[in-house]
Amino acid sequence: MNGTETAGAALKGTIRTLSPREMPLLRDHLLRLDRDSRRNRFNGVVDDSFIESYTAKCASDGTIVVAYLTDGEVHGAAELHQPEQSSDHLPEMAFSVEREVRRKGLGSLLFKKVLKAAERAGFERVRITTGSGNEAMKSLARKFGAHLTFGHGESTGIIELNKIASPSIAADLPQPDLLKAGLRPVAGRRELKVATPTDFARASVALGRWYWRQVFRAWEIRRPV
Ligand SMILES: CC(C)(COP(=O)(O)OP(=O)(O)OC[C@H]1O[C@@H](n2cnc3c(N)ncnc32)[C@H](O)[C@@H]1OP(=O)(O)O)[C@@H](O)C(=O)NCCC(=O)NCCS
Repeated sequence: MNGTETAGAALKGTIRTLSPREMPLLRDHLLRLDRDSRRNRFNGVVDDSFIESYTAKCASDGTIVVAYLTDGEVHGAAELHQPEQSSDHLPEMAFSVEREVRRKGLGSLLFKKVLKAAERAGFERVRITTGSGNEAMKSLARKFGAHLTFGHGESTGIIELNKIASPSIAADLPQPDLLKAGLRPVAGRRELKVATPTDFARASVALGRWYWRQVFRAWEIRRPV
């Protein structure tokens, strides 16, 4: 997601990705979280200097931040951390919404947007980790198809992006007709690739069918009743 979008009826702000230079806005948002929210967000107790260096690192390590802004301040964020940051090379997501704007669907909206960003970046699966007592985050993750497992006081869930049920994400996936025709999506891009000569033959037939459907449809529209 590149552009700015309004968040929805219950929320007056806008949602967009932050540039690396804007990470101080993420820092100020994380510093504003109340004590419990900060502990839930980092799954432990962290002080201000940790947040300062954490957000400085986000500015240089390719972290994607989808943010909810009002009056130039970030009040909600979804972070997507690059796979190199984790031991098993899975990109990891993290969420934070300030108390004043919770339970208005903002967490869900940010979730949707960050999954879209992950899909565009070419990732096939993403991980979410949260404290096992964090009911709000667990419920949010389950809403998007995460199957959570528990261990060491944490809940971890993997979301397979190609199995996602969310219509707004599914809408951006290749059409079933094209998939049946043997066309494959290129990771992270909206193009489609022909992989083998058989794919090419199938794709030509599908394209031919599509062309003649359009011709017949146009003829039907113009035919006098
Ligand atoms: C988790 C968090 C991001 C949710 O944000 P939000 O804007 O309130 O989320 P939504 O309004 O979109 O609600 C999402 C779902 O979670 C459920 N939910 C929200 N708060 C809940 C709570 N306290 N208990 C149980 N379920 C809850 C809602 O019912 C909703 O499901 P629904 O749409 O089917 O009704 C927010 O509570 C938060 O920032 N918490 C502190 C930081 C944190 O815990 N981060 C997670 C670590 S990665």
